[in-house]
Amino acid sequence: MEEKKKKNNNLEEENSNEKKVFTEEEKINLFIQMTNSKVSLTKICETLNIKEYEALGLKKIAKDKGYNIVTNQTDKDIIFYNQGEIKDVEDKMIVFNTDENNNFKFIAVSNPLLGNKAQQLSIIKDVYKQAKSMGINTIFLCGNLTAGTYKMNDENYDSLFISDQEGQVDYFIENYPREEGITTYFITGPKDNKGKISVGTRIEEARPDMVYLGAGNAEVKIDDAVMKIMSSKQKKTYTTSYRSEKKVKSLRSEDKPDILLYGCLNQADHVYLRESDTYTIPSLCATTKEMESQDGANTVGALIFDVNIKKPELEKKKKSRKYRDNKKTKRTESIKLTTIPYYKTDKNDYKNVNIIDKTKKIILPNEVNDELGKERAKKYFNYIKNGKSIDEFKNKFHMNDSELFGIVELCNMYGLYVSVIRNNKNEMVFEKGLPKNLKFEKPYLNSNDIVVREFLVVADNHLCNIHQQLGICYELYEEAKIRGIEIALNGGDVVDGNYKNRPSYPKQTFYEGFDDQTEYVIRNYPYFPGITTKVISGNHDKTHDFNDGATVLKWVAKERKDIEYVGIDRADLDIDGIRIRLDHPGDGSADALSYASQKSLERINAGSKPNIYITAHYHKWYEMLYNNVFAYSAPCLCGQTNFEMTHKLRTMVGGFFLKVYINKKTGAIEYIESDPRIYEENEWIDEAGLELDEIIQKRKKLIKNKVA
Ligand SMILES: [Fe+2]
Ligand SMILES: [Fe+2]
Repeated sequence: MEEKKKKNNNLEEENSNEKKVFTEEEKINLFIQMTNSKVSLTKICETLNIKEYEALGLKKIAKDKGYNIVTNQTDKDIIFYNQGEIKDVEDKMIVFNTDENNNFKFIAVSNPLLGNKAQQLSIIKDVYKQAKSMGINTIFLCGNLTAGTYKMNDENYDSLFISDQEGQVDYFIENYPREEGITTYFITGPKDNKGKISVGTRIEEARPDMVYLGAGNAEVKIDDAVMKIMSSKQKKTYTTSYRSEKKVKSLRSEDKPDILLYGCLNQADHVYLRESDTYTIPSLCATTKEMESQDGANTVGALIFDVNIKKPELEKKKKSRKYRDNKKTKRTESIKLTTIPYYKTDKNDYKNVNIIDKTKKIILPNEVNDELGKERAKKYFNYIKNGKSIDEFKNKFHMNDSELFGIVELCNMYGLYVSVIRNNKNEMVFEKGLPKNLKFEKPYLNSNDIVVREFLVVADNHLCNIHQQLGICYELYEEAKIRGIEIALNGGDVVDGNYKNRPSYPKQTFYEGFDDQTEYVIRNYPYFPGITTKVISGNHDKTHDFNDGATVLKWVAKERKDIEYVGIDRADLDIDGIRIRLDHPGDGSADALSYASQKSLERINAGSKPNIYITAHYHKWYEMLYNNVFAYSAPCLCGQTNFEMTHKLRTMVGGFFLKVYINKKTGAIEYIESDPRIYEENEWIDEAGLELDEIIQKRKKLIKNKVA
């Protein structure tokens, strides 16, 4: 106790001995004047008769007044100057080349928001470690690197632990993870572009592992495929797919990229529209105060892309043959998407000093050397208590604002985290960061703790409809066999059924009755030993129940031991400790792709929430990560029917593969890979009245023509 008192007295003396020549206001004005041209820290201290750390405080106050003052460390001194205008970034078009198999792998992330208390450096660090373990060396960061600034009276002001943009940029440069061999290509987002400094240019200059592509948006190429990267200035909407759908629809066809990465929306989904794949990129931070007030869930994670580009030779030949169509040709062959979800975040992660590799080293010139600065920071830091008013501190040590902020800066530079916040009584108080030991490390993809399960998902065969595409279904099963898949899921509408209330119906089907349709399925549904198909019924299958009281799939399952009938309209399947819900709703198609799935997911009680939710019936491919559930809308296996044509419903034909990586210990899905196979209209064939053998022959001919 006695000793502590002595210590404090020493600190008091240290300050009171200082001769105060200028008032605080005079000091700030002089400081701003001096920094109009380059000036050294030594010179500033001599002129203003202040200590070095106080100059750091002056810099902060000047910055808050809108002066863009930056520092440059030289061998012996620190140079201060007013940088003024923002530098423009030069136009770059970077081309990434695919490997010998025409593949290119990368990770996309967004919204780290460093400087906000919701930041999750541990998660970001884990993503970079995962990238390294998978041999991925390219990461696209789609904006909002920094938390951005708020005015002092803004309700979000105290959600920041670094309130000024320059401090945030310095913090980013120092702490954003780096892994050897990995390059991060980034655009800035609305939060980065709020202030007067060029966040992108500064980061690029200081970090050799980071390449600045542009403010707000940029374009790169993967071979000759165009990938656009954008950050959204607009807020997210309730309907997850709304922003992406709108963005694709608004682009003219010649501006439409093959791939669009859309950042800063704090959500994860994938829309395939007009031959363009649009992905919204999840965030890398916890839910901020601002997100909370804007409602809508924040999805945390990273996306791994494995893009396969079409071979140019094949493309040329196609154009010269009958495969030419007037639409722009799609340049990507397939895109596998692996999602790394982070279900939990830690609100104290920003206080976690263990994740900081090294504290920032500053060299103060003259009599105050590095060690002395550190000693001084430590002494004050020990005195600072959580929630203690800054006025009390200022009185105790006879300090003015610039000295106080100088001390705060000094502490933070040495990794002693402290900030000044406004408490609920509107007083300015200290908030101290305490080291914590929470980690977000995931087991690697190939770790022993992971069990991998792969599925084929198909739906809406509408067999016996004249537009059926059983040949495509067969091709998907063929690939499933090669992949070693044991379980296929079918979401219903296996047969087209018989709508007696639709007069045109007999013209749409080549078999109408229960017997004929059931037997057609038994004879022709793809059969591959080792693959079991779990199927639910859909509204079309059920027409026979209504007409004749006979259940098609029940009879199919009796004759075909590889087909399991698991439910009417819906089934929950528990496989390897995870729950998959198959759903076949009966309603009409909503305008937005995600709407129906979001509504269904919100109706499920938290306790019975599935890990994976698959909905059939809409005949459209869509995927998203919503409230920690992986949701998929399955494409169909039937070309556009008359009903769809008259109701202007878009149809997507195909199926998808799902590879699920399950943590044996926790039962959680650590990674999930989706691989959609969408077949364009020129890849469909006329199968009306044909049996499977004939269909396979016909498709083989089509493929031969395509390559020849
Ligand atoms: Fe259907
Ligand atoms: Fe349906």
